[in-house]
Amino acid sequence: MRPSELRGILSYTSKFRDKTFVLGIDSEVIAHPNFRNLILDISVLRSLNIDIVVVHGASHQIKSLSAALRVAPSNTDGMGVTDEATLRLSILASNQIAHEFLETFSEADRRAAVTNAIIAHPSGIVSGTDQGWTGRVERVDAAYLQNLLAQGVVPVIPPLGFDGEGRTFRVNSDGVAQEVAEALKAAKLIYLANNNGVVGAGSLSAQFAVSEAADYIRKHRATLAADTVSKLEHSLTACRNGVHRAHLINGLQEEALLSEVFSNEGIGTMIYANEYEAIRRARKKDVRPIVRLIKNSVREEELIPRSEADLAAQIGDFYVFEIDRNIVGCVALRYYQSEPLTAELECLFVSGGHENQGIGRKLMKFVEDKARQTGVDNLLVLSTRTFNYFQQKGGFTDADLALLPPERRAKYEANQRNSKVLCKKLR
Ligand SMILES: CC(C)(COP(=O)(O)OP(=O)(O)OC[C@H]1O[C@@H](n2cnc3c(N)ncnc32)[C@H](O)[C@@H]1OP(=O)(O)O)[C@@H](O)C(=O)NCCC(=O)NCCS
Repeated sequence: MRPSELRGILSYTSKFRDKTFVLGIDSEVIAHPNFRNLILDISVLRSLNIDIVVVHGASHQIKSLSAALRVAPSNTDGMGVTDEATLRLSILASNQIAHEFLETFSEADRRAAVTNAIIAHPSGIVSGTDQGWTGRVERVDAAYLQNLLAQGVVPVIPPLGFDGEGRTFRVNSDGVAQEVAEALKAAKLIYLANNNGVVGAGSLSAQFAVSEAADYIRKHRATLAADTVSKLEHSLTACRNGVHRAHLINGLQEEALLSEVFSNEGIGTMIYANEYEAIRRARKKDVRPIVRLIKNSVREEELIPRSEADLAAQIGDFYVFEIDRNIVGCVALRYYQSEPLTAELECLFVSGGHENQGIGRKLMKFVEDKARQTGVDNLLVLSTRTFNYFQQKGGFTDADLALLPPERRAKYEANQRNSKVLCKKLR
């Protein structure tokens, strides 16, 4: 890391200080050599006064123990029936994992505590089948966890729940992480799995608003791994219930956690609740506010003039950024029928009062992800005065006029703005 990168990190430290992050860590990640680095990364977050709660899975260790002890488990993922033998394996596996956490946190000079904060009841009979020792979370003892956090302790929560009679139930760790994040009003729920999150059209789908993620799951359920669907669904529920952001990242990748938290780009899939700020598709009633918004930039020749009629005709290509339901930014994505598949980022604008808060980059990244998801090869942007921004903040590079599809080339020659043509190759 270059020392100058510390400046970038500083802007996040004030944002996250005293906030809670809940980490849902898959069992494969715990068994991987990168686990030690992950604990060190957690230790870095703690030293920045970010409260961390760990919820872990156990399926990988249950499988290993079942092979070693020659006991066949009734399920390994905590999603089906749990018989008595499987419950015993789960308790053994969880104890073993808990010990690994305690040892590794000690090595990093951090205090951690294995907890019984999940109060659970039997799942009961589902579709006619008794789920045995599979439990459902009744509630999370948030006060107990907050006490530990206040003392700088990292609570470690196994995929086990307890009832008032002292019985133990097996609970799904993705679900536990979600419930804990909600109960603690966490700023982030971060799932660390053994894969990269949502991969669409050959690349990572970086950001989804809650409504988009719901749509995405509906359309792609058949092709997504069951584990990814589980994490996406629990992320959605958490974001609908007050958690600001949920992330799916690859816990086997070195520095994944720090990169996701401390960079604008992020390296996994993020789902965000659109409570206070959101990017959404523009609607007809937004035409007038958008024309008003971009008026000054048109005057300064930064943006192409657009009448209300022009904008109404193109409104389907527009996205707006809202804060407290006010439109403070916009961008458009126009597709061309061309080979290779080409799209153009147009009309990026952020209102003066909201500049330099990363909104321009969010809008730029948003349309880039959209274009990627739809298989676009070349994303173009034409700019007279802001080309530096697209190069420096968006990773666009100078391109040749020949990249313009014929219909765009004709328009380019007709308007005589002599804009610079920039391109980002998405594939
Ligand atoms: C360009 C614009 C969209 C940036 O929006 P924003 O939300 O302020 O941008 P971000 O917060 O994501 O990024 C701010 C960073 O970009 C830099 N930046 C802003 N305008 C820039 C430019 N023209 N060239 C290079 N860098 C620029 C800022 O200095 C800041 O840098 P830092 O993060 O290193 O401090 C906004 O200034 C705008 O609407 N400009 C007028 C319209 C326009 O020119 N649109 C593009 C035509 S297609």
